[in-house]
This record gives sequence, structure tokens and C-alpha cells, in this order.
Amino acid sequence: MIAVKDDTEAIRQQIIEAAAAARTFDELESIRLGELGRKGRVTRLMKGLGAMDAEDRKEAGRRLNTLKNQVAEAIETRHRELSDDALDASLAEGSVDVTLPVRPESPGRVHPISQTIDEVIAIFGEMGFTVAEGPDIEEDWYNFTALNIPPDHPARQEHDTFYLPGAKERLVLRTHTSPVQIRTMLEAKPPIRIIVPGRTYRRDYDATHSPMFHQVEGLVVDESTHMGHLKGCLIDFCRAYFGQEDLPVRFRPSYFPFTEPSAEVDIGCTRDGDEFRIGHGDDWLEILGCGMVNPRVLENCGIDSSLYQGFAFGLGVERIAMLKYGIPDLRRFFESDLRWLRYYGFAALDVPTMVGGLDQ
Ligand code: PHE
Repeated sequence: MIAVKDDTEAIRQQIIEAAAAARTFDELESIRLGELGRKGRVTRLMKGLGAMDAEDRKEAGRRLNTLKNQVAEAIETRHRELSDDALDASLAEGSVDVTLPVRPESPGRVHPISQTIDEVIAIFGEMGFTVAEGPDIEEDWYNFTALNIPPDHPARQEHDTFYLPGAKERLVLRTHTSPVQIRTMLEAKPPIRIIVPGRTYRRDYDATHSPMFHQVEGLVVDESTHMGHLKGCLIDFCRAYFGQEDLPVRFRPSYFPFTEPSAEVDIGCTRDGDEFRIGHGDDWLEILGCGMVNPRVLENCGIDSSLYQGFAFGLGVERIAMLKYGIPDLRRFFESDLRWLRYYGFAALDVPTMVGGLDQ
């Protein structure tokens, strides 16, 4: 009895010290096997219990069980310490470079449409614009009437626009993001400064048109907003988006029912057959429509046109993505071909910012 008590106490001390002193996982493992393994010392002592008489076995069994648990715990504690040390050492040795690019195989690619919209938002965000949204299914009044689009305008024809059947109010799949101008002006008081990225729909299908496509609308309304603001804002946008500080930008008179005067914006390029290069050259590419908000549109939204004026613009997302990233056929954007996406897509964590550079 007494022998068992003394033995277990001495063994306990010894093993706990040995475990705490183990310097490697291997050393620790050999201690574990030597004590708790099938032929280990503690295991052997426990096997000896069978030879004792009942009274001694009870007392010795309790002591040996406690010993076994304490030994196992000491080994486990040391194992945890060694793991922590190993982790600390590997962290200290190889510091993590958080600026490394994402591995190309993970975690998927960002679609060029999403990337382009993010880039446009980053640029206008810097200029103080906020993002507004509206529904894809729009009422005739917001899409056409309030925007001063006359009944005989081509966009109103059945062959240009998707109308929804059976509604009391005539519903359309919006043909442009301009109805969000109306929704915003009805809700907010000037000053207004918004951009509106979103899906738009027209009955069109060829290499440069798809029945569903994307636009970004812009709207600024304030007391003294004038054509100079419109020009400065859009010239800055074109140069930032295409990454060319001296990109030639031209305003060509045009017509939209909801702006007066209206213009289309072209950027400089060099053309060689189907190929073109954006920048100084002898040719122009049209990239967006714009103008001063027609006073009738302001009045339709309850804004006093003798106090306020504004400008608006609308650009095609697919078009500017195709131009910037050399994507030849617009239909591929929506075919969900992973090979295409792998080729034209963007790394998932390269969020465009003006500070970081738009398209790294
Ligand atoms: N909504 C016009 C279009 O889709 C673009 C535009 C928007 C023009 C705002 C002027 C002002 O063609």
C-alpha cells in the first residue's frame, strides 16, 4: 500500500518534469509511449492491480488512475506549448505579405461588367456622387412621359421596346436608366448629385447590341449648375477611366428630348480597319450622351426651373468595357462561358479605387 503511494508520487513527479522538459514532439511522444503505451510503465503498474487483494486494489487503483490522468494531461499541455512555439517560430520567420496578388485560380473571377461599374463608381464617387437605383420594370410615365419623350419617338414603338402584357399602367422594361432621374428628383430636393448603374432593355441583337445591357446614368441639379460643369466632369471622367491624362474629348451637338442643349461625347482614337487605339489620333469614338436637364423635366418633377438647373448623362457600360479591355463581341458578355470569364475577368479582391489605380 505505502509502496504504491510512494511509487506513484515519485513517478508522477518524474514524468511531469520529463514532459515539461521535452524539446521536440518526438521526445514527447517517446515519453508518452514509455509511460502510457501498451508496454509503458504506468500501463504495467495498472496491469499489476489484478494480483492485489480487493482492499489494496481499490486504493491503488484510484491512485494509478489519477496518476494516468495527470501524466496524460502533462503530456497534452506540453504538446500544446510545443505547437504554439512552432506557430510563433513560423510566423516570425516568414512574415505574411498582404500586398501579394490573389492566386489566379481562386476565388473565381469578377465579370468585366461588374468591374467596369465599380470603376465608374470609384471615379464619380471621388467627385462626390452617390449611387441611386430604380426598378428594371418601369412605368411608361417614368420611362417616357416625364422625360419629355413624345408619343411618336422611336423608343416608344413596339419594335424597339419590351412592353409587359396585361398591366393597367403600361409597364415597360426600362429602355434606359434615365427614369431614375425622375424618381430621384421627385424624392430629393436639390442639390442632387447621383449616378445610377443598372440593367436596361431594348429589342436589339448583334455584335454590339444585346436585348439586355447596362448603363450608368448621371444627374446633377443645383442652383448654378452649368454646361462648364458638365464638360469638366465628363472630360475628367473619360481621362480617369481610360487612364490617359491628355485623352482628347469632344462634345458634338445632339438631341435628346430630356436635355437641352444635348451633346454626344467622343474620345480620340486611331483606327486601322477594325482595330483602333484610344488616345491622340485622327478619328473619334462615341461613348456617351449628355446635356443640360430640359426645364420641362425639372417642372415635371416639381422642381422650379427658374431657380434650379442641372446636367445629365448616360453611358453604355458594355461599350466602355469593350473599348478599354479590347473585347470584340458584346454577346459574349452574357453567355456564361467560363473560358471567356477566365480570360477577360478580374481578380476578385482587386477592388478599383482612384488611389490604388483603377485596373491593376
Ligand atoms: N438616356 C439616353 C440613352 O439611353 C442617354 C442620356 C442620358 C442622354 C442622360 C442625355 C442625358 O440614349
